[in-house]
Amino acid sequence: MRMRNKYRKSTTLRCNAGSRCSLPVLVWTLVGFLLMLHLYTLISQNSIPNKDIRNGISQNPLLRELEEVEEENLQMPPPRKRSPRAAKRKPKKATTLIDEFLDESSQIRHIFFPSIKMAVDPMKDAGNDSLYYYPGRIWLDTEGNPIQAHGGGILYDERSGTYYWYGEYKDGPTYHAHKKGAARVDVIGVGCYSSKDLWTWKNEGIVLAAEEENETHDLHKSNVLERPKVIYNDNTKKYVMWMHIDDTNYTKASIGVAISDSPTGPFDYLYSKRPHGFDSRDMTIFKDDDGVAYLIYSSEDNSELHVGPLDRDYLNVTPVVRRILVGQHREAPALFKHDGTYYMITSGCTGWAPNEALAHAAESIMGPWETMGNPCIGGNKIFRQTTFFAQSTFVLPLPGFKGSFIFMADRWNPADLRDSRYVWLPMTVGGAADQPFDYSFGFPLWSRVSIYWHKRWRLPGRGSG
Ligand code: GAL
Repeated sequence: MRMRNKYRKSTTLRCNAGSRCSLPVLVWTLVGFLLMLHLYTLISQNSIPNKDIRNGISQNPLLRELEEVEEENLQMPPPRKRSPRAAKRKPKKATTLIDEFLDESSQIRHIFFPSIKMAVDPMKDAGNDSLYYYPGRIWLDTEGNPIQAHGGGILYDERSGTYYWYGEYKDGPTYHAHKKGAARVDVIGVGCYSSKDLWTWKNEGIVLAAEEENETHDLHKSNVLERPKVIYNDNTKKYVMWMHIDDTNYTKASIGVAISDSPTGPFDYLYSKRPHGFDSRDMTIFKDDDGVAYLIYSSEDNSELHVGPLDRDYLNVTPVVRRILVGQHREAPALFKHDGTYYMITSGCTGWAPNEALAHAAESIMGPWETMGNPCIGGNKIFRQTTFFAQSTFVLPLPGFKGSFIFMADRWNPADLRDSRYVWLPMTVGGAADQPFDYSFGFPLWSRVSIYWHKRWRLPGRGSG
């Protein structure tokens, strides 16, 4: 006999006057609603012109070439002969391609660091090679010298219709300040190059120079100046530079700010500080469409990133700050925006050695930010696991091609930092992301970010093909 338990909760809920609905009905209604939402997301994404959502390949023939997957066949060189005595003293560890990359005497060194004979020289490379980027090759300026703009970023100056590329000028000897310290070059300053076509770069000189004498100065050559970025302030009509300022041992962990009336400097150095009272190492700044600019920096010993708006003049942070990607240990942030969504590429924390990039997305720049996975496509597995043997530094929207960008990265050469190379590759936003998100119940709210490997490529619409 079925006993009625007056204390047992009824599973039927009273929905509204007179009608009763059971829990399963509610659950199924909810499932139905979620499926409809999912369908709607897919349909609305499919209706974006020029985008094939299934694979993210653009319908625009000019972009199609850049989104072709280019494989790379990279073989480990045969093991080097060792004397039996050496083998006994130190048994050989299995070498990886990253070891080969970091080994100055590797037989495949030329693949990662092609010789000067292969340099891209916009003043000579006419005809067939005109306007082509060759990631990893030495890139010469209009005077025939290798471009020195490492860890850099690009400002498009609307007033002059000119691109300015700022970066670490590292044309000095590499050494270790002490045995366990990272390889370094004394601070020389921030290099600046100008261009109209993003390929031919004129050296505009060192726009923020190191301090030679005063040892207590932030810019004293024995310190660290990394990842300079410049934005223009429409209110003050000033060009504002933010950078990572540190001491030789990376314990100062501060930001530095400099200002100029002209994009080509000279910049006046204002001060350094720990933003919001936190340690700050790799960093970038981002100017949003509404003119508000933000500082994004690795903090808490690089275990998380912080983001916060700058003040109206871009000369300081405000008290507002959010912790993002907490516990994810990311650095080298490169931020961009597409269709109202914020995206960011970051690297892992392995010093000058390359590691896997990750793409992140957020509806608000202040977060929450979600991690979408590795954006690298093509090359081969090890290329993708090492960001093509490079580290993110900046993302530049591709002029005239919405949803397309240039991904800028540094292929560091820790044995000779001045000879670090630039890896510029086409990047697109489109197609479904390949990792579920923490805050969107597994729905592909955001699109995939894809960085395509190419041995050589040029901007769409440049040249005959
Ligand atoms: C990297 C960082 C570089 C530089 C380097 C020093 O992790 O991204 O900007 O600081 O470490 O080892």
